[in-house]
Amino acid sequence: MSHPITVKHALGSYPVYVEPGLIGRLDELAELHLAGRRLALISDERVCELYRAGRLGASSWKGETLCVPAGEATKSRATWAHLSDSLLGRQFGRDSGLIGLGGGMVGDLTGFVAATYMRGIPYLLAPTTLLAMVDASVGGKTGVNTEQGKNLIGAFHPPAAVLADPGTLATLPDREFRAGLAEAVKHGLIADQTYFEWIESEVEAILSREAHVLVHLVRRSVEIKAEVVSADERESGRRAILNAGHTIAHALEAASEFNLAHGEAVALGLIAETELARRLGIAASDVRPRLAALLWRLGLPVRLPRALYRSSVAALMSHDKKNRSTQIHCALVEQVGRMHHDGGRWTTAIGANEIEGVLDVLG
Ligand SMILES: NC(=O)c1ccc[n+]([C@@H]2O[C@H](COP(=O)([O-])OP(=O)(O)OC[C@H]3O[C@@H](n4cnc5c(N)ncnc54)[C@H](O)[C@@H]3O)[C@@H](O)[C@H]2O)c1
Ligand SMILES: [Zn+2]
Repeated sequence: MSHPITVKHALGSYPVYVEPGLIGRLDELAELHLAGRRLALISDERVCELYRAGRLGASSWKGETLCVPAGEATKSRATWAHLSDSLLGRQFGRDSGLIGLGGGMVGDLTGFVAATYMRGIPYLLAPTTLLAMVDASVGGKTGVNTEQGKNLIGAFHPPAAVLADPGTLATLPDREFRAGLAEAVKHGLIADQTYFEWIESEVEAILSREAHVLVHLVRRSVEIKAEVVSADERESGRRAILNAGHTIAHALEAASEFNLAHGEAVALGLIAETELARRLGIAASDVRPRLAALLWRLGLPVRLPRALYRSSVAALMSHDKKNRSTQIHCALVEQVGRMHHDGGRWTTAIGANEIEGVLDVLG
């Protein structure tokens, strides 16, 4: 087995394995990392079905399994209660452990059940979407959504280990696959020019999901996110660079009433925030066209789907501004692979009008 990537956090560290075929060894790796514990696997119905049909790899898991409906609506307190009650009903004790098999939805939910069950039990993540591999499985954030917003109830509870098997990505719908690529491009943009250039040179191989190329993509993204969060576990300082593109992305997602997938909104947000950085004299002028060209080649949107969004985005931004009575903060890029950093601050205060103006670049 190749060397895992180590993610450090306040209470210790955990390994992230990136290798084809890991799913076929779920039993054995669970036994290794959650030794002596009574285990339950949590997944969503779509992933459960693919797993049982052997389409994610050999299915070795014979233990107890809890399947919840697929989709973001399942990431709720109601499902958290249902899963916790199911474990209690089956007399799972303090010596139990969980395995989250699925995308970021399953991972966040499993992690939050694990964080609270008997005041905290260990868990493993076996991510099966590109987004979950390159983003959601690293950093220890767990939680559920409420009507007031996403991820508002949750806890830091890092997994005991992450088993990222790029072979599972073969069945992932194109749109989900591309959404993960937006975060990978972000990782290159914020921290590693060589990685960004590698993505530029491997677009076709990435889109055809060649195994060795996916291994490198997932590994390098995990390494970059791990390096950033390891240095900064509790979300201050440098960790903010992981939010590149996300200030505008979150507004676009909401303004589109979630018709834009998160990764699509991130692609647009990265372009708009890079243009913002250029207008502020922070980014070199060639960064935005180069970034847009790469995102476009990867099949991600580089224009707002409808002009309509622009007005709703503007409204949303000013609403946001009023609520916080402070300015909006963005992590801004200087050059491919390097983020702006000013006297210990990794974000720059931006006026809502500046953000509104910059959306032109997506028109
Ligand atoms: N904890 C974090 O740091 C963090 C970071 C980023 C995102 N997230 C969270 O992750 C979630 C989004 O994750 P996601 O995009 O993986 O969504 P998801 O888990 O809902 O998965 C998307 C869809 O793909 C299906 N699917 C999963 N694996 C598949 C496979 N191999 N083949 C075919 N279909 C498959 C799922 O059933 C689902 O329908 C959000 O809830 C978000 O808040 C968390
Ligand atoms: Zn994101």
